Amino acid sequence: MISSHLKVGKLDIELRACMSKENFQVYPLIDKKKKGEKLTEKEIKWFIQSYTEKKIEDYQMSAMLMAMFIKGMDVAETAALTDAMLESGEQLKFPGKNVIDKHSTGGIGDKASFILAPIASAAGVKVPMIAGRGLGHTGGTVDKIEAIKGFNTALNLNTFQEKLNNEGLVLIGQTPDIAPADRLIYALRDVTATIDSIPLITASIMSKKLAEGANGIVFDIKTGTGAFMRSTKDARALGKSLIATSKRFKKKAVALITDMNQPLGNSVGHSNEIIESIETLKGNGPKDLTDLSIALAAHMIHLAGVEKTFEKAEKKALSMIESGKALEEFKKLIKSQGGDARVVDDYSLLPMAKVVTNVTAPKSGYIKMFQNDQIGLLLIELGGGRKSKADLIDHAVGFEFKKKIGDQVKKGDTIFEIHHHPHQKEIAEKIKSTFIKEVLAMSSSKVKTPKLILEKLS
Ligand code: URA
Repeated sequence: MISSHLKVGKLDIELRACMSKENFQVYPLIDKKKKGEKLTEKEIKWFIQSYTEKKIEDYQMSAMLMAMFIKGMDVAETAALTDAMLESGEQLKFPGKNVIDKHSTGGIGDKASFILAPIASAAGVKVPMIAGRGLGHTGGTVDKIEAIKGFNTALNLNTFQEKLNNEGLVLIGQTPDIAPADRLIYALRDVTATIDSIPLITASIMSKKLAEGANGIVFDIKTGTGAFMRSTKDARALGKSLIATSKRFKKKAVALITDMNQPLGNSVGHSNEIIESIETLKGNGPKDLTDLSIALAAHMIHLAGVEKTFEKAEKKALSMIESGKALEEFKKLIKSQGGDARVVDDYSLLPMAKVVTNVTAPKSGYIKMFQNDQIGLLLIELGGGRKSKADLIDHAVGFEFKKKIGDQVKKGDTIFEIHHHPHQKEIAEKIKSTFIKEVLAMSSSKVKTPKLILEKLS
């Protein structure tokens, strides 16, 4: 059984007792933050607890979020906010230091979790993954794995714990038991233009990651046209904030800043991305996807203490692909969560769109850049993402990139494929013209292939 507040150390009990005696007022606290003053740990915890208990109105919380957004928060305030949101729900705890998770800030074609998690698990790391669904233009890990018939991502936390202990690898969606304060606050941020704040993003991500009970976290912070953090400077600031907060909670952490100016790998869309992930586990994946998955898995193996050096961990990660062990681990994960593991050898078991419309190069030259967030929005147009919360995802549709940044092309070469249904011919034509006009940029002179892993923070 999971107890709702496992972290009941002496400090926590004292703080809670103290908080219940405190007589804070909503207005002066909003005013304090608005003037740029630092809030204390007790003030932040009182505010979040009161809001979660519906004692503070949405408009007051919105005002506080905007004040936090504009005036910023230091590491101590961010940690207090993280802790307050963490304590609003269940917290899992696993013994042993080999429980390591990974978090990606999201992008286009990001399927690395399906590759790195089986690699790390095959190497002896326990991997508890609580993943998200699509957000804005970015795709979601949970939506993608559900392309596999029967795969159940809605396990309760007891089953999640059991599976982690017995199988070493488990992948579920967000549950209402984990950090419910984040869910409430996130919904407000989404409609009050307060999403892109580094302390608020940090507290939101960290409260959920800490609740999962991992002992270490590897962060993949995306930067570029397909990322939430467009500039490397902002990605670095987020990485530093996540590492500092991890440290305060005594978690080991590494962050890689990685390029998201083009999709990761060549496939976009749910079934397409599952196939590319399986091919990568079979050793036939595109170089960028393989390299990043190996690097992230190696950091997980290293943080878990399975290997003493990163170099040895990298060799081990590679050997998990070469030996077929990682692929076996992926099959085991599918079976364990009720999915049809035959897909690994038979892709026709995945929903697949039957029609392919090619987009060809309008002139000869070099691929200079892609407006990558547009790709995510075009996938939504095709039905591969949600326009509103209740929309169902079409796993069958997607895109395939035949050329990437730096590639030389001749006029008429296929750059991009649109995989769609027969009744979607008109929309495919619209996507084709948007791709040429708004997504693709070409150059007549040579273009360098972008570096994939830009920085490492630890
Ligand atoms: N992902 C999260 O979980 N929270 C944020 O605030 C942004 C991205």
